[in-house]
Amino acid sequence: MLINKHILLGVSGGIAAYKAAELVRLLRKQGAEVRVVMTKSAMQFIAPLTFQALSGNPVHSELLDADAENAMGHISLARWADLLIIAPATANLIAKLTHGLADDLLSTLYLAATCPVYVAPAMNQAMWNKTVTQENIEKLQHHGVKIIGPEQGDQACGETGYGRMSEPVAICNYLTDAPENQSSSPVQCLQGLKVLISTGPTREPLDPVRYLTNRSSGKMGYALANAALKAGAEVTLVSGPVALTAPANCELVPVETAAQMYEAVMSRASGHTIYIGAAAVADYSPAIMQSEKIKKQEEQTTIILQKTKDILADVAKLDKRPFTVGFAAETHNLETYARDKLVRKKLDMIAANWVGREQGGFDSEQNALHVFWESGEKTLAMTDKTRLAEQLISLIAERFFIKS
Ligand code: C5P
Repeated sequence: MLINKHILLGVSGGIAAYKAAELVRLLRKQGAEVRVVMTKSAMQFIAPLTFQALSGNPVHSELLDADAENAMGHISLARWADLLIIAPATANLIAKLTHGLADDLLSTLYLAATCPVYVAPAMNQAMWNKTVTQENIEKLQHHGVKIIGPEQGDQACGETGYGRMSEPVAICNYLTDAPENQSSSPVQCLQGLKVLISTGPTREPLDPVRYLTNRSSGKMGYALANAALKAGAEVTLVSGPVALTAPANCELVPVETAAQMYEAVMSRASGHTIYIGAAAVADYSPAIMQSEKIKKQEEQTTIILQKTKDILADVAKLDKRPFTVGFAAETHNLETYARDKLVRKKLDMIAANWVGREQGGFDSEQNALHVFWESGEKTLAMTDKTRLAEQLISLIAERFFIKS
């Protein structure tokens, strides 16, 4: 029920923090991707490593840490989240949220998040019953926050009453049943279809030790492979040299040169329903590869380059052609160039993005796309490449089924 949902789990410092570990496991079982944010005091109760192992993602705790901000900063995390659940939420954290304090990562994320927010309080019964806590809870509800629990029962402090955090299974059920969380992702929308994706840069050898290449990281193509797999497709990934791990359940075809990528794609294209050309294929390759290392001699030298074959255009020319999607990375005139490629290469769709700008593009964690097809277009706003890939796969599935 939570397939593909991005869940941010905030853990604050109460004894119930250990129960949050079970919550991560249950949420993942429901198909969600979970990232955990811990307060300093939560780390006194349970080690971040537990959450890292269970969520499969690094744990976030620092607000003012340049490294953490570079990897996935607080605004990126807030944008990434489909929902924020804070479990356990201490009286102190609840008070901070109520009054808009933002002095650590979790309270800042709450302010930055635009997604639905759920809070599962956990505290001593006297603290829960205190007028100020009850007023804070009422205010939070008024601000649109959904409160889950707490439950009545024995407490770690030896007292009995309201204040026990709801059981992880109850929290998980609450999130699954909430109408706003009903998945609108492309659940199994590509079930049974075969998707071929080419990605990464190519390397065009000049001599045995040198080559021409580009800045492509392959991140978008790998994210597309993951999204297509989640949508139920059988995926073949033809990949240039990248520093990424391919999803275990796809067929990986590693290649190096544009010519090898051409062969790998052309020999498989007709056997696939959809082809997504996300690779940054070299447009030119050295006409001759020197068998020995080129020696340093004159002040200037010339390398003769030969145009490579256009894989995308040739796939689209096949008699038995797959639904063909291309990419256009542009530094200017984005729409004009993208539309021109759509027509000239006879594509079904083209996803255009800016390159050479501060945000997005090659080797970035985030990107935005402007997608064009014959009778329409859609803008996919700046977000992380995982989410962007899911949105693009959804759009490709929609257009594919309309066309076929
Ligand atoms: O014409 P341009 O290279 O800008 O077009 C970009 C699109 O064409 C991308 O989808 C890229 O993967 C594909 N392409 C290709 N073969 C080439 C060059 C580009 O498939 N030789």
